[in-house]
Amino acid sequence: MTRQKRKMKTNAVIGASTALALALVGGIYYTVTSGKEDVTTQQSATTEETTAQAPNEANTETVEVPEVNAPVTDEETEELPHTDVEQQEVQTNVTDARQYIEGQAAATTPTYIDGILLANKQHPLPASYEPGVDPVAQQAVDEMIQAAKEQNIRLTAFSGFRSYSYQETLYTNYVARDGQEAADRYSARPGYSEHQTGLAFDIGEIGKEELWLTDAFGETTAGKWLVDNAHEYGFILRYPKGKEHITGFMYESWHFRYVGKDVAAKIKKQNVTLEEYLGVAVTSSDVEATGDETLKVGSLTKENR
Ligand code: DAL
Ligand code: ZN
Repeated sequence: MTRQKRKMKTNAVIGASTALALALVGGIYYTVTSGKEDVTTQQSATTEETTAQAPNEANTETVEVPEVNAPVTDEETEELPHTDVEQQEVQTNVTDARQYIEGQAAATTPTYIDGILLANKQHPLPASYEPGVDPVAQQAVDEMIQAAKEQNIRLTAFSGFRSYSYQETLYTNYVARDGQEAADRYSARPGYSEHQTGLAFDIGEIGKEELWLTDAFGETTAGKWLVDNAHEYGFILRYPKGKEHITGFMYESWHFRYVGKDVAAKIKKQNVTLEEYLGVAVTSSDVEATGDETLKVGSLTKENR
């Protein structure tokens, strides 16, 4: 199947998911204030509460949702005009994944590669792309949180879908505080955040909020449980340690991306990043990541990102 066909097929499925999300999700936004950073997520319509209650604790009902790779009709796999991912790849003339593409035109369509939505510093999303949290990903994270709970690990997804404008606010604030060079290592510019896909979640432990958004979370039982088990629920640790030159972002022990169980299992087994798995890494894995994995900005400690 050509990439154009795959792309259209996935768009159709995502479209169905989005429609379902709109039907299922009441679009109730609320803000959790960790005392450090405001993080916005979207709460399922299964609860009317708008308190700071952990969103996924409140949302354990299961609903019928389409598979991410559900089959679509033949009509939906017709050839598309050639405005596809290959063209975008040609434009990706950077030599390091940490670089944005200077002068890159605003995205008019999201990039799918082999059915996987890709958002990184070389593959932006349209500002108007606002799918909300993906219902399949939401259900998967709920199941993962429930499974952890059965092991006495109390997880919560404290940040999920973020709109272009909300990401703009976050990024602008980080640049104002830490400078652009530092901010670019841990916060995506608007249009470049995986949170805008509705498929990413920042996860932490309830009662250990001081470890949210820290490297130290990765050293905890909870953080390790996630690394060991996330693929069973279709998630990958999106920004692993030592891969900043390939993913474009610093290690984030808390950021998990839904890719579906099959792909997550392969990525885990191959021990690769999403970029490497999709064959779009602009920096080869044998290039040493320059600079430290941790920032040396005075004000930048655990509470950021
Ligand atoms: N912290 C991740 C890279 C984001 O801003 O999307
Ligand atoms: Zn994140």
